[in-house]
Amino acid sequence: MRNYTIALIGFGGVARSLAEIIRDDSDRLAASLGFRMTVVAITDLNMGTLVQPEGVDLAAVLAMPRGATFAGLPGGSEDARNEEVIRTSNADIVVEATFTNPVTGEPALSHVQWALDAGKHVTTTNKGPVALAGAALLERAAANGVRFEFEGAVMSGTPVLRFASQMLQGTRIAAIQGILNGTTNYVLGQMAQGATLDAAVAEAQQLGYAEADPTADIGGSDVRLKVSILANQIMGVALTPEEIPTRGITDLTPEDIAAARERSQVWKLIGEVTRDSAGTVRAEVRPIALDLDHPLAGISGATNAVTFDTDLLGQVTVSGPGAGRIETAYALLSDIIAIHAANGA
Ligand code: HSE
Repeated sequence: MRNYTIALIGFGGVARSLAEIIRDDSDRLAASLGFRMTVVAITDLNMGTLVQPEGVDLAAVLAMPRGATFAGLPGGSEDARNEEVIRTSNADIVVEATFTNPVTGEPALSHVQWALDAGKHVTTTNKGPVALAGAALLERAAANGVRFEFEGAVMSGTPVLRFASQMLQGTRIAAIQGILNGTTNYVLGQMAQGATLDAAVAEAQQLGYAEADPTADIGGSDVRLKVSILANQIMGVALTPEEIPTRGITDLTPEDIAAARERSQVWKLIGEVTRDSAGTVRAEVRPIALDLDHPLAGISGATNAVTFDTDLLGQVTVSGPGAGRIETAYALLSDIIAIHAANGA
């Protein structure tokens, strides 16, 4: 049975969840998917580097206390030697799960480039490199005969990109509208119940939905990155995030919310991409008061959803989690499954 060797670049919550899935469920996955996975290297800003070409003992690594480093373990050191591991380890697949930098995409962008140039497949949930350089990275992957997969960059494990590219083949998509940020959707729901913006954001932070700096959530820039990925990957354009007019929810007042309720509408922060009859594609992020019969009006809490407007099917909506450790780890697993399928499973 095929065994994929894996390097984990970044060992935060999402990568640890993938490691837990591999530790706990590899027999079931092997039986149903037809391949096995062995982690052969881990790098992390806090823990350092661990390279064990025969396979890391994931149970032991996952049991290490908070604050411990890999120094002292065989193949371990306390510095994160990302480039060396990506370029020279025996990994077939590099899992890039470091933090998102929305302006430069770094250091994740370099991690992906190094891996592709070294002939390694890449999966990432990192929005930065995909939004800023997705097309170039796909070309680089093709030139090196490997795959670049990034399902989790838009809606964590909810398969919105593969849904569009595989399940809607043959339809023409005229528009995409999405609730792509769980924090703002939760906050808007709380505000509709009378909470203030600040109180609702504090709750979202406590529940773990919000970014450490929630400005990216409520200001709309998190959605802007996701919309640029949807526009470029599904509509085949080359929009940069800066080209997408973006307004978040900070200007919405209790009066706006009450007025919408009186009109039987509900405010949602919507990322949208439209293609007009001349073929021009535009994207925008803004709060919209939706009529209650709109497919996205009933999406509540931190759930995400995307509605595709198609010629042959009309409106089709995909909804599910847009964040979460295990949910996002599932995106990585789904990418590894796609890599296996593309390699003649
Ligand atoms: N803070 C984001 C959200 C997490 O609330 O949806 C996923 O990008």
